[in-house]
Amino acid sequence: MSRLTESPARVRRSPEHTPLGRPHPERSHEERLHFERPHFDYAHFAQGHLGSRLTKALRLPRPAPLRRYSSDTLIDGVVLIDGYAEAVVAARMRDNLGALGIPLADAPPEPPGVSSLAAVIVDMTSITEPHHLETMRAIIAPALRCLAPCGRVIAIVRPPQEASTVAMAAARRGVDGAIRSLAKELEAGTTANTVEIADMADGAAESVIRFLLSGRSAYVSGQLIRVGAPVGPLTPPLDWTTPLAQCVAVVTGAASGIGEATARTLARDGAVVVCVDVPAREAELALLSTEIGGSALTLDITDPHAGARIAAHCREHHGGLDIVTHVAGTKADGPLSDLDLARWRTVMEVNLTSVLRMNDALIPAIREGGHVVFVSSTTGLAGNRGQANYAASKAGVIAMTSALAGQDSVRAKQVTVNAVAPGYIATTMTADTPVLAREVGKFLNSLHQAGLPTDVAEVISWLCWPETRGVNGETIRVCGQLLTGA
Ligand SMILES: NC(=O)c1ccc[n+]([C@@H]2O[C@H](COP(=O)([O-])OP(=O)(O)OC[C@H]3O[C@@H](n4cnc5c(N)ncnc54)[C@H](O)[C@@H]3O)[C@@H](O)[C@H]2O)c1
Repeated sequence: MSRLTESPARVRRSPEHTPLGRPHPERSHEERLHFERPHFDYAHFAQGHLGSRLTKALRLPRPAPLRRYSSDTLIDGVVLIDGYAEAVVAARMRDNLGALGIPLADAPPEPPGVSSLAAVIVDMTSITEPHHLETMRAIIAPALRCLAPCGRVIAIVRPPQEASTVAMAAARRGVDGAIRSLAKELEAGTTANTVEIADMADGAAESVIRFLLSGRSAYVSGQLIRVGAPVGPLTPPLDWTTPLAQCVAVVTGAASGIGEATARTLARDGAVVVCVDVPAREAELALLSTEIGGSALTLDITDPHAGARIAAHCREHHGGLDIVTHVAGTKADGPLSDLDLARWRTVMEVNLTSVLRMNDALIPAIREGGHVVFVSSTTGLAGNRGQANYAASKAGVIAMTSALAGQDSVRAKQVTVNAVAPGYIATTMTADTPVLAREVGKFLNSLHQAGLPTDVAEVISWLCWPETRGVNGETIRVCGQLLTGA
């Protein structure tokens, strides 16, 4: 198995660059408004000389540059792996990560305080009583003092629903509670997440651990990721640097924002990408598809034949279809009392009804073992003032995801179905947010900054890896642990 390569280099991408760090070929008028309009930006301010001193003195949140994907190493530094009692998953992780050449430890380095640990993995799968959680405290607390910036804390546990006693269920849920709290305490771009692995599903957890250790998970923190029995056989990619090689992927809404980043990321990970967007975005779509070596298809997804046209395009131009990512979306905000029917209908139609309709044509077209990813929103989980229509559509996406994943016809094809729920991501869609609401939206999360389109794209791509077969019917929040809705 070759080594998945990523580097912890603090790659600073400016808004003038594409998510892959290349100069932006042609930024749209709306995007220029978002990124180039002079406006106060707290994150930028806090990283400057004066801002840094002021925020430190006033103990204000200090956003750190995040460790994002680049192409050298999976994780740079020592990974501490420990756990309670038998800790069978820890043993497996030691073997897997050791085989990748990652330096491992089972205790924090001496002297304490040296920033030499890159990650801590704590296996709590054997706990049976609440007081066993003390072991987690005893492992993590000293390790935190040695954790390098942008470190990773990962706790592993079995599902409380599968516990054989009430005390065991309580202890298991306690892991998630502690890790969510820790995620809110961490600084310097470090994240903490819990992986809940069902009995007999340990083999399906490797792609989750790789993802969480890597820079791909930069904006995922304070989350519980559930891993169940794999949907179909686990097939490690021939090359982990291009896990999507030989896959044909569709991205709707590919002309800008999260869709564009998704198209670029899937292509970087090896897929041939069909970029879909409205006819008005034809020029951007053509540029993008040429750059990433895919193809472009202009259509409005609310067209009743959109799904059939996408399926036909994939069949005729690429011989089939493996991955569908539904990123296109819109909003038309206003308090419910003022929300006219047209604005209600537009948002519901683009974000939900058209997607439901496209499923009918696209699911049968997807080859066995494929993947579907929808884009919801944390607004769909928590609601948001002035967004009743948007929240209704995005909450619908979450239920659609779990319902579709459970359908016999979908399971029979071994297709996984998941969603991502982004928090505040800097795109055209959020460009018109009033300055105060924008700064609040950006900072009310544990990483104290807005996410980038690439942060969502990385999660979408990971959900489409051939090895990501144990995560199914889930909605993964990509929000830096937003204080509302996460
Ligand atoms: N930006 C955020 O903070 C955020 C947060 C949560 C969820 N989201 C969701 O992420 C997705 C992408 O949003 P974004 O921020 O990149 O916005 P964006 O406006 O930059 O991109 C949306 C894309 O969808 C396309 N699109 C819209 N209606 C379409 C239609 N009828 N047919 C085909 N294409 C259509 C647009 O042309 C555009 O290219 C949306 O579903 C959005 O609801 C965004």
